[in-house]
Amino acid sequence: MTLRLGVNVDHVATIRNARGGRHPDPVRAAKLAIAAGCHGITAHLREDRRHIRDDDIARLKAEIDKPLNFEMAATDEMVAIALKTHPHAVCLVPEKRTERTTEGGLDAVKQRAQLAPVVHALKHAGIRVSLFIGAQPEQIEAAAELGAPVIEIHTGAWCDALTQGHAAEAKTEWELIRTGAQFAKGLGLEVHAGHGLDYASAETIAALPQITELNIGHFLIGEAVFEGLSETVKFMRAAMDRGRTKARAAAAKQ
Ligand code: PXP
Repeated sequence: MTLRLGVNVDHVATIRNARGGRHPDPVRAAKLAIAAGCHGITAHLREDRRHIRDDDIARLKAEIDKPLNFEMAATDEMVAIALKTHPHAVCLVPEKRTERTTEGGLDAVKQRAQLAPVVHALKHAGIRVSLFIGAQPEQIEAAAELGAPVIEIHTGAWCDALTQGHAAEAKTEWELIRTGAQFAKGLGLEVHAGHGLDYASAETIAALPQITELNIGHFLIGEAVFEGLSETVKFMRAAMDRGRTKARAAAAKQ
């Protein structure tokens, strides 16, 4: 199965908002990323609107011709915006005002009562719902029990351990992701992954056949400063394809 690439354009908006005004425009970035071969666009409308703003979401929905994955907290305000916008997909994420980025996954076990009506309302409206969670079996089970058809596994701890050279921790995190992806697929869930991925980690995780989508933002937008966004998206696509092809060839030999 193809491994889809969702490009997260939040940090184009971060740069724009540093000066106010309209430049650089995340919708223009989304169109460029699509032209370069990504499968969809992801954008996170945070409660504090620190990067993506309401009109970005409306314009993305109106102007792009690929699926829009709307990341949001499970609040009444965001549910109302999602129902009005009707994106292809919603990814429910935890949100803390003081965090620099989404630090961990949702606690689908503890937040079951809060998440259940949100998952239900979005699904009822025909929006594909995913829960951004750690790969612990109890989180995956809770997501399945909540009726979410998709989970997105938080890869942040694995990516941090890799970039900081903490080999033992990276191995532990990788095993959690690998076994979690298998377990989730076995429960009938569609499995996505994201957070902190770069060319190397995307190539590695592409080897897991259960994963059908990677959502990547910060590295791509940062790297685009040097290589341009089109080249960066193409390099990322190539890294993902290499990872999947190598894994298929290895599996065929066994
Ligand atoms: N997936 C989810 C659910 C996220 O919250 C984020 C960060 O906004 C990403 C993927 C992308 O992470 P990064 O910007 O580190 O690539």
